[in-house]
Amino acid sequence: MTTSPLSVFSINNLKKIDQLIWDFFQQGVKNKKSAFHLPTIATCGMKSFNLRTVVLRQVIREDNIVVFHTDIRSKKIAELKSNNKLLLHIYDKKNKIQIQAEGKAKIFYKVKLNKLTWGSLSDNTKSAYLIKETPGKKIANEKDLKYLSHDDGYNNFSIVKVKISKIIFLHLNHNGNKKALLKYERKNNKYFWLVP
Ligand SMILES: Cc1cc2nc3c(=O)[nH]c(=O)nc-3n(C[C@H](O)[C@H](O)[C@H](O)COP(=O)(O)O)c2cc1C
Repeated sequence: MTTSPLSVFSINNLKKIDQLIWDFFQQGVKNKKSAFHLPTIATCGMKSFNLRTVVLRQVIREDNIVVFHTDIRSKKIAELKSNNKLLLHIYDKKNKIQIQAEGKAKIFYKVKLNKLTWGSLSDNTKSAYLIKETPGKKIANEKDLKYLSHDDGYNNFSIVKVKISKIIFLHLNHNGNKKALLKYERKNNKYFWLVP
């Protein structure tokens, strides 16, 4: 009989599970192999929901905030401006956990934070902001693109901070799956086990 190795999440203390989840978020910023490095985010449009992958850029753990960068002209920005609710999803296959998080997004554009962050980005990362045409626009030919200078790319650069208010955590285990709701409230966090 084969037994799978015990996951770090095979514990029953929800406070510790919460701490582990935020450890994983923090590690996900730098560790490109972590599932937390590339979360899927969902925003709500007028007619439907929209999902996409983003790179996790920063975690402000004490405030339950996760940060990503995006083009100010992208669809997600327009959607977040009309409804700042954002859902985030991660499936960590190695640790057999799923994170379903919900939060409110705040967009930062052309403020000191953006100037400082833009200055710290590599030319390769900056190149994502240099296409003259609006992202998602139909074009006749995929080579038919005009580019901006690195300095002009700054005009397209935005930072989105998401304050997470709750997480639904699921741990898959052959001895029985475990599910929990973690709620982040101003004074104290609340934890509940859920039927998996
Ligand atoms: C691995 C990967 C990482 C990505 N990282 C980002 C990112 O950090 N920010 C971003 O805006 N788009 C990123 N994208 C592109 C988005 O998934 C999406 O296609 C793009 O932002 C346009 O989305 P929207 O028009 O729905 O806003 C990434 C895509 C992949 C496949």
